[in-house]
Amino acid sequence: MKAPVGSKLTERDVTPEAIYLNRRQYLKASAVGAAALMAPALKASEAAPSVDPAPLWLQSQNKQASSSPFSTTEKLTPYEYVTGYNNFYEFGTGKDDPEKKGQDFKPHPWQVTVSGLAEGTGTFDLEDLLKGLAVEERIYRLRCVEAWSMVIPWLGVPMAALLKRLKPLSSARYVAFETVYRPEEMPGQGSFFAAIDYPYVEGLRMDEAMHPLTLMATGVYGRSLPNQNGAPLRLVVPWKYGFKSIKSIRKITFTDRQPQTTWEKANAREYGFYANVNPAVDHPRWSQAEERRLPSTLFASNRVPTLPFNGYADAVAGLYQGMDLTKYY
Ligand code: MTE
Repeated sequence: MKAPVGSKLTERDVTPEAIYLNRRQYLKASAVGAAALMAPALKASEAAPSVDPAPLWLQSQNKQASSSPFSTTEKLTPYEYVTGYNNFYEFGTGKDDPEKKGQDFKPHPWQVTVSGLAEGTGTFDLEDLLKGLAVEERIYRLRCVEAWSMVIPWLGVPMAALLKRLKPLSSARYVAFETVYRPEEMPGQGSFFAAIDYPYVEGLRMDEAMHPLTLMATGVYGRSLPNQNGAPLRLVVPWKYGFKSIKSIRKITFTDRQPQTTWEKANAREYGFYANVNPAVDHPRWSQAEERRLPSTLFASNRVPTLPFNGYADAVAGLYQGMDLTKYY
């Protein structure tokens, strides 16, 4: 694993984001601010661009986001880490590859194909798929299986609202997701040394997918998703390890069989279908009892204990009642 983007540390790392953003707006509006923005100390603020490249309909849907009672009040992980320290193997396995090599990817126009056990199958323009669905801001912890974590202000629609409009049949017990396959825009997919099989695939049990915490994200930090975070549409399941949160979703399939998932195919002993965050079940090669909350440096590792279901146990533990979580990891 590569070193975190410590060199990008800014004042934002010690300033609550809301205060920071307000101040930034103020600075932008003033002549002093214009000069100050050019000063090296504030240069990294340009990393949070005010220009949103997404189509206007998506920008406007995201801008109307309401806040959610499901949001945590924990300190946000700075924008530079959320968008500069990523796992998106389609663009390379380095943490900074997705930001560096993801810029030629074109997330618009975008279509999603829905198939399997549902009435609403077909291929839909993203705009039609999302039309009329209310976007919420959900500030969630994201816990990667690699034992680092972030606190991320997502924008998105409750997955239940999206899936309901596709009218799944009662025989649908699982929903499978697939990332777009575009080796010409995603260098990792065409690489001879590809670490995993493409397209990336994931899946959830229907009750997990319909759970109120499960989000189909369309944005982050008040803007549409950058490519490296899974533009234009990605899953967010906050009580599961981050690899369940599949990016750049192109296909949704309702099925009665547990779908195969990319990491299970790559190494079933190390990565299971359920992947619920669980400090009591170690990864075969490392402990899951603690995590590094980013930003984390050599001198301030910022280790915090990992919580069962990533701190969402009250809301989701009931989904797994009676299941042996050491077996269904
Ligand atoms: N989705 C695709 N298509 N490809 C990936 O490599 N990586 C997963 C997940 N979704 C991945 C993916 C992993 S391991 C994590 S931890 C999260 O995305 C990281 O999301 P983030 O980069 O937005 O923090």
